[in-house]
Amino acid sequence: MSDLRRLLEKSGYSNKAIEYYLKKVNVGHMENPSVHLAYTGPCGDTVEVYLKIELNVIRDAKFQAIGCAGSFSSGSALMEMVKGKTLEEAEKITEEDIINFLEGIPKEKIHCACLAKRTFQRAIKKYMKSKNKADA
Ligand code: FES
Repeated sequence: MSDLRRLLEKSGYSNKAIEYYLKKVNVGHMENPSVHLAYTGPCGDTVEVYLKIELNVIRDAKFQAIGCAGSFSSGSALMEMVKGKTLEEAEKITEEDIINFLEGIPKEKIHCACLAKRTFQRAIKKYMKSKNKADA
């Protein structure tokens, strides 16, 4: 077992959260997204979300972060969870849903899941605003 994996385990990350973090699931840039948005949370970390949306359904989702293992595992999970969902369904995902999906992250890291969720919700709002403007 690598030192990093052992440390993450000891800190309270589940195996699934560790896998998502180490494999950088859904981390990266997206060409021509329907919307992208960066948001900095109160901890000073920043998450940037990229979404490809077609007919109200999220077809692809990626993110990048300047942040901790909590922000990366939560961002990876959230992007996985929202793919194939309508905007209305995806908007309802809570930080508890993200943590349950990951099967556990340290309780001190709940705000990191919140940062991923807030960034995502802001991206949806930005998309809706631009869409409403285009439709008007
Ligand atoms: Fe800032 Fe985790 S400490 S997102």
